[in-house]
Amino acid sequence: MLFVWNDPEGNPPPAEVTIPVIEKFNDGEWTDWVWNQMVVDTNCREVIDNVVDMAHFFYVHKSFPTYFKNVFEGHVATQYFDGVQREDVVHQQDAVAAADAPKFIGSESEAAYWGPSFMIDHLDHKFEDGSNPSVLINAHYPIDNNSFMLIFGLRVKRREGMTAEAAEAGAQRTGQGILTGFMQDVEIWKNKTRIDNPLLCEEDGPVYQLRRWYQQFYVDVADVTPEMTDRFEFEIDTTAAVKAWTAEVEQNIALKETAGAPA
Ligand SMILES: [Fe+2]
Repeated sequence: MLFVWNDPEGNPPPAEVTIPVIEKFNDGEWTDWVWNQMVVDTNCREVIDNVVDMAHFFYVHKSFPTYFKNVFEGHVATQYFDGVQREDVVHQQDAVAAADAPKFIGSESEAAYWGPSFMIDHLDHKFEDGSNPSVLINAHYPIDNNSFMLIFGLRVKRREGMTAEAAEAGAQRTGQGILTGFMQDVEIWKNKTRIDNPLLCEEDGPVYQLRRWYQQFYVDVADVTPEMTDRFEFEIDTTAAVKAWTAEVEQNIALKETAGAPA
């Protein structure tokens, strides 16, 4: 990977902003990187907004968040996510896997932006017989105020205790599932407009604090203020959302059963 540092003040990158090495690639067998890139015609802040967006996991990715927390500190913004499989949705990995393959049950993710445009997402897919780690890189650079180049790459760990072919096939299935999910985000970004003062509800998360964090990359270093970089933690209370979504999932299952029942 080649990292490019852009500083309008002309200073070199400070040592503490170095993007970390992903140590876990030394542990076990991983697929090769799969990279994609594309131009997205909107302002690149739209990508960043996803860091605090708990609800889109249900509506856009058809997953079911149960835990969601953000921590912003210095130049790093992190999202912690736990989710379970929705019982009214056939997960893509189950749809393409053999009928007797272990079922997908949920995912855990720790995704951090190291600066304004380079995210490392440690994403574990959990199956009945164990979890399948992966790493997703989500990076971009602005082209102008209304477009940016999106670059994303993925590696998946080949699981132990199975044949090399089965491990590779499983990793490829997981990889395809993750890329499909990522393209769901892309579809939203392509249709979003930069809004500086959105009207929020409680579960929308700390959008305004995230934007204070993000603003540190758009001012001279001397103008960076503590409100942009001080440690900030926020866990979204998912109780009300989980209750509503549980009812929605049950209703969807009931509707499917009614539709499938003989007249
Ligand atoms: Fe997303």
